[in-house]
Amino acid sequence: MAAHLMGFGRYAPERIITNDDWAARVDTSDEWITQRTGIKRRRFADDDESTMTMAVAAAEHALKDADLVAGDIDEIIVATDTPEMMTPDTAALVQHQLGCGNIPTYDLGGSGCAGFVQALDVAKARITVAPKTVLVIGVELISRMISLDDRATAVLFGDAAGAVVAGPSAARAEVLEVISGTDGAHAEILTLAAGGTRNPFNSGSLESGDYNRLVMDGRKVFVEAVRRMSEASVEVLDRIGKTTSDVALVIPHQANKRIIDAVRKQLGLADERVYVNVHEYGNTGSATVPFALSEAVDEGRIGPGDLVLLTAFGAGFHWAAAAIQF
Ligand SMILES: CC(C)(COP(=O)(O)OP(=O)(O)OC[C@H]1O[C@@H](n2cnc3c(N)ncnc32)[C@H](O)[C@@H]1OP(=O)(O)O)[C@@H](O)C(=O)NCCC(=O)NCCS
Repeated sequence: MAAHLMGFGRYAPERIITNDDWAARVDTSDEWITQRTGIKRRRFADDDESTMTMAVAAAEHALKDADLVAGDIDEIIVATDTPEMMTPDTAALVQHQLGCGNIPTYDLGGSGCAGFVQALDVAKARITVAPKTVLVIGVELISRMISLDDRATAVLFGDAAGAVVAGPSAARAEVLEVISGTDGAHAEILTLAAGGTRNPFNSGSLESGDYNRLVMDGRKVFVEAVRRMSEASVEVLDRIGKTTSDVALVIPHQANKRIIDAVRKQLGLADERVYVNVHEYGNTGSATVPFALSEAVDEGRIGPGDLVLLTAFGAGFHWAAAAIQF
């Protein structure tokens, strides 16, 4: 049984934070952020929004796009590193809010920005074993989880959600192949430790500021992100007997324009064959790929017959890539 994508959805909060807004808060500038990352703006959730509400908004968009209702969904996977709570998972809250039946749901957490494509790998396997309709969501509300006084990390991120409906119906696009990989030797290079059992949240972490400190070796992350996203892209195409010249559009994880450009060059692709929206939304973690996919479909950047490549990289380090035939 083949797995297909039947609908695409996305949600971004209304509130726009520009680079100049950041420069008014911490010691940074539009020039520094633009040169190093390509980011000009990002969205931050309002107080009445949460990881669950953003995930539900993207899911409703994807369901509408698939011409389905909540009762048609058989399973939900939510990829997020910024869950609504420690327990239970965000997926259970999404299930109830959408009004699905008592279907199984689970979060795929801690994979950073690779989470959505990894979740798609799981969804494909589940559909292949037994035909079912799986809602796959990537969502992050990062602005509420990291220190907004740390210029080295805060300016990079934004909040958003993206979703796909995956299932057996061959109406729109087939998930030909997905690959995932992990190198835990690099786990300490990108961490948000507080709140876990190594560094439980307590008054000490509040005083030290550890409770929201994102620790990142930016240069090492940069190098590994380029290498792993490029290699995963070639590997997934190789598995289906294709090369980059067969690809109509690459949708890479939107961390940074320089990383995207380096991957594009490694793959030998022209600008117009790589989708970029990082200037508008910043790095929205596991939401970047499904958000960009939904946007690219709506903008007419993807049409029938197109082979689309998804490639992502995140904390762990984890990486994943998918080949989608429209
Ligand atoms: C973070 C990143 C943009 C930094 O760019 P860079 O070219 O490596 O930065 P540099 O080493 O040239 O500059 C670092 C300097 O800028 C300063 N700096 C950091 N953030 C800054 C900011 N927002 N504004 C101004 N200066 C800043 C640092 O304090 C440091 O100063 P120092 O040299 O006096 O110590 C880059 O490493 C990167 O994109 N890495 C990948 C990060 C990522 O994508 N993470 C998510 C992975 S999914």
